[in-house]
Amino acid sequence: MKSLRLAVIGGGVIGAKHAELISNYRGVDLVGISDIDQSVNSLADQYKVAFYNELEDLLLTQRPDGVIISVPNSQHQTVARICAKHKIHMLIEKPIADSIESADRITEIAESEQVHVLVGHHRRHSSLVKKTKDLIDDNDFGRLIGVSMLWALYKPEDYFEIEWKRKKPGGGPLFINLIHEIDLLRHLCGEIVEVYAKASSETRKFEVEDSMVISVEFASGALGNIFASDSSASPWSYELTTHENKYYYPVDENCYYFLGSKQSLSFPKMELWNYENTESSGWQYPIKKSSNLPDEVDPLVEQLKHFCDVIKGNALPYVSCRDAKKSLAVVLSIIESIEKKLPVTISK
Ligand SMILES: NC(=O)c1ccc[n+]([C@@H]2O[C@H](COP(=O)([O-])OP(=O)(O)OC[C@H]3O[C@@H](n4cnc5c(N)ncnc54)[C@H](O)[C@@H]3O)[C@@H](O)[C@H]2O)c1
Repeated sequence: MKSLRLAVIGGGVIGAKHAELISNYRGVDLVGISDIDQSVNSLADQYKVAFYNELEDLLLTQRPDGVIISVPNSQHQTVARICAKHKIHMLIEKPIADSIESADRITEIAESEQVHVLVGHHRRHSSLVKKTKDLIDDNDFGRLIGVSMLWALYKPEDYFEIEWKRKKPGGGPLFINLIHEIDLLRHLCGEIVEVYAKASSETRKFEVEDSMVISVEFASGALGNIFASDSSASPWSYELTTHENKYYYPVDENCYYFLGSKQSLSFPKMELWNYENTESSGWQYPIKKSSNLPDEVDPLVEQLKHFCDVIKGNALPYVSCRDAKKSLAVVLSIIESIEKKLPVTISK
């Protein structure tokens, strides 16, 4: 069968990772890389593919079946519009855009040009996340009462040498990192209807926040909280505990807890707790744990595999524009709550 022809637009941190994944994956060919920065041609050289300063040149010359858009959030709409006009299916990195208006424009152009857009909330393709969803959706779990999440780690000093990472808008862990936690919360626990958040920049003293506490209410009535900090000497984050991204130091710890009326689950150790005997539930009775670890997969590879299925017409995007827009809307509401010092209802 003919290989799919894929191109990467934006060859920075994550674009380079996508180029590596495509070049290692059977059944797809990396046919080009486009970037406004000429120095990114070294990445194209590394994979022996053509480099294009002008995106239109890449699209006209290579006619890719699909593109991975890994340019800064502010550029997602501009690049997506050009690709949609050329009728090319897209994987757009998360968040879908930097504003609701841009997310709407991307949705409209993709629908009018009849191209598929998969949004790169890659953690949804994790086997740990899929197993979590199966377990908490199961009747045996009872009613989901709440969830408690920690995203606490220490970003090295050199991370902040890049100026925009210290400035608003665009910098700060809420928009860069917590979008992942928010997207997982929605995916696993249902829609979020209200948020109330406080942020602090007391540790690093940058313009952007370094720590946050966020309360959420779900449409089901379940409650949740996230404590997040990029300046704490802590192992309790998705990055360090799941071992999915080999860049991060691996630890054998949990970072999330899902609490149900009949069972509770720790993540990512996937320890499911429940009473030995349902007739004797109560704090004086034995409560036991069982392990439910799934096989390990690389969610970025799974996402690429899924994108290929979407291009071939064998699947619809697992994370659509409309879905990803809701995660963006929650993050924007958290920012509003921090600024106004008030709870914010998420608009439908
Ligand atoms: N899924 C993840 O875990 C993950 C991780 C990192 C970044 N991201 C997302 O990926 C995107 C890129 O982030 P990054 O950290 O790789 O950024 P980056 O700054 O390292 O790279 C962006 C690249 O895009 C290029 N560029 C800018 N405007 C362009 C345009 N109009 N056309 C072509 N190239 C353009 C820049 O020159 C740069 O090389 C963002 O949306 C970010 O949120 C996702």
